[in-house]
Amino acid sequence: MMEKIRQCCSSLMPVNLTDLFSTLTNDIVCRVALGKRYSGEGGIKLREPLNEMLELLGASVIGDFIPWLDLLGRVNGMYGRAERAAKQIDEFFDEVVGTFSNNLSNKLFFSIPSDPFNIDMFSASTETTSSVLGWAMTELLRHPNVMQKLQDEVRNVIGDRITHINEEDLCSMHYLKVVVKETLRLHPPVPLLVPRESMQDTKVMGYDIASGTQIIVNAWAIARDPLYWDQPLEFKPERFLNSSIDIKGHDFQVIPFGAGRRGCPGITFALVVNELVLAYLVHQFNWTVPDGVVGDQALDMTESTGLSIHKKIPLVAVASPSISKMNY
Ligand code: HEM
Repeated sequence: MMEKIRQCCSSLMPVNLTDLFSTLTNDIVCRVALGKRYSGEGGIKLREPLNEMLELLGASVIGDFIPWLDLLGRVNGMYGRAERAAKQIDEFFDEVVGTFSNNLSNKLFFSIPSDPFNIDMFSASTETTSSVLGWAMTELLRHPNVMQKLQDEVRNVIGDRITHINEEDLCSMHYLKVVVKETLRLHPPVPLLVPRESMQDTKVMGYDIASGTQIIVNAWAIARDPLYWDQPLEFKPERFLNSSIDIKGHDFQVIPFGAGRRGCPGITFALVVNELVLAYLVHQFNWTVPDGVVGDQALDMTESTGLSIHKKIPLVAVASPSISKMNY
């Protein structure tokens, strides 16, 4: 990723960060789960149907509520789209299984394909993580003071060292952590979490909830509720400095990873990837929007629809090397 940005940098080309982040997180998860990257054509074969699936998972299916109208899902093409996307995902994994089964020494792999949880792992981990990176960079570009403060911190910790940024470095980057937290508060990638079903009849705030009722938690709205947050719509990472409120599911006013038994098991993984990538980006480059516009209105903030949401309009920015890193 850094190499691609450097190339754009030297030819003064804007960088499509949305695309870059999506490729990066797919590569990371593929390397972790399958042992190698699937960038390029192979990556697109997985990325496109996964994105389609995430969009469809966030859509309302009328047949879920009025069963005799289920036919509408066929008529409006929704079921057809889901079947096509599922087939393409299956084909991708069939190809991967084929490649690996030719290499019998790779025993680890054989635990993977039969388990649907692994498909969850791909969809749950790639677009969510890249969405946070996209929003974080967008907010940093809209708030030059925050960007400057973050750059100062990261550059102070790393100095002119020409080595990889590691997890120990991240421990010293307190402002970086609150920038990521504030991004997750304002832009939770899974805004309605994953639907739940009540297991028994219960009463909540005087309302009777029957067993088997579908429950949707609006984490997006909770994290913007003025009852819990001062100036809730403002991007202010400082609100998390000297605050005990965390985002890991114990403080219910901000639950981007859900909470409880079905809460996200990838929190640590996601936070490290987000922090590390942002640290690299602001350490080695200065960033502007292509036409040089800065300030609050400079970047489009429209959200996409789907189970997991990201910036609707791709984020494109211009990188220039930070002076002290010219020789990297
Ligand atoms: C910033 C990135 C991420 C966000 C915001 C996020 C958010 C979420 C949310 C909201 C849920 C549903 C939790 C609930 O309903 O209580 C979830 C579930 C899940 N996440 Fe993440 N996630 C992220 C990254 C990851 C990563 C990197 C992985 C894997 C390496 C992962 C794996 C999973 C899995 C497997 C589930 C399903 C858990 C279950 O159903 O029991 N997620 N995630």
